Amino acid sequence: MRNLAAPIRQYAKQTNNTGDTRAGFPSAMRSRRVILRPITIDDAGAWKRFNNAITRRNPAWPIVPSMLYAKNELLHYDLMRERGTRTVYAVVERSSGTVIGDFHLKRFDHAKRRVEFGHALHPRVWGSGTTYEVLNAVRNASRRIGYTLWAKVESANIRSWKSLEKFGATFCGERTTTLCGRRMKMRYYEL
Ligand SMILES: CC(C)(COP(=O)(O)OP(=O)(O)OC[C@H]1O[C@@H](n2cnc3c(N)ncnc32)[C@H](O)[C@@H]1OP(=O)(O)O)[C@@H](O)C(=O)NCCC(=O)NCCS
Repeated sequence: MRNLAAPIRQYAKQTNNTGDTRAGFPSAMRSRRVILRPITIDDAGAWKRFNNAITRRNPAWPIVPSMLYAKNELLHYDLMRERGTRTVYAVVERSSGTVIGDFHLKRFDHAKRRVEFGHALHPRVWGSGTTYEVLNAVRNASRRIGYTLWAKVESANIRSWKSLEKFGATFCGERTTTLCGRRMKMRYYEL
């Protein structure tokens, strides 16, 4: 098994490599239990595992059918990072060095200094306070650079929006949209 501790240490030391350079989000963020650092193609196995563990708990979550699919998706994230359209962090559990989730910054609005976020964590850490730590680390970083974080969550995804509300996110309203022919109610939040 690959030792993930070395790259984590390396990323944690750097503050200015592949993070979002335009907005100024750091390349690594840390809290007591986790480190957020840029996700890479080497994380494909862990990325597939935590996503599919989520799907087992919530069948509405998209399944990752193969390693090829996972690698392709992570390469796509690399491309988006290069283009400055999305920054994806791996959430690494410090005690085990395991990638237990990801955190996305997307739809950067540099003029208004706003950015959308999305995150997913392995169900084994749900309810443990890890989500709170992750949100807190990113919110601290975004406050330092003067960006507002916002998120949209499907109203049916109760655990997710409850978690945001528990964290203290501001509820901004609900809207119905159509995605792939499916009508969905979305809740909007700001941190
Ligand atoms: C979103 C996510 C990170 C939240 O993780 P988490 O650690 O479970 O969240 P928290 O523990 O902070 O909060 C969840 C809250 O929802 C509550 N909850 C969960 N299911 C619920 C339900 N069906 N009805 C009412 N409340 C519910 C929990 O009890 C908890 O509140 P409590 O601590 O007051 O009891 C995790 O659920 C996840 O990875 N989900 C899959 C990915 C996803 O949906 N991402 C969001 C889209 S961007």
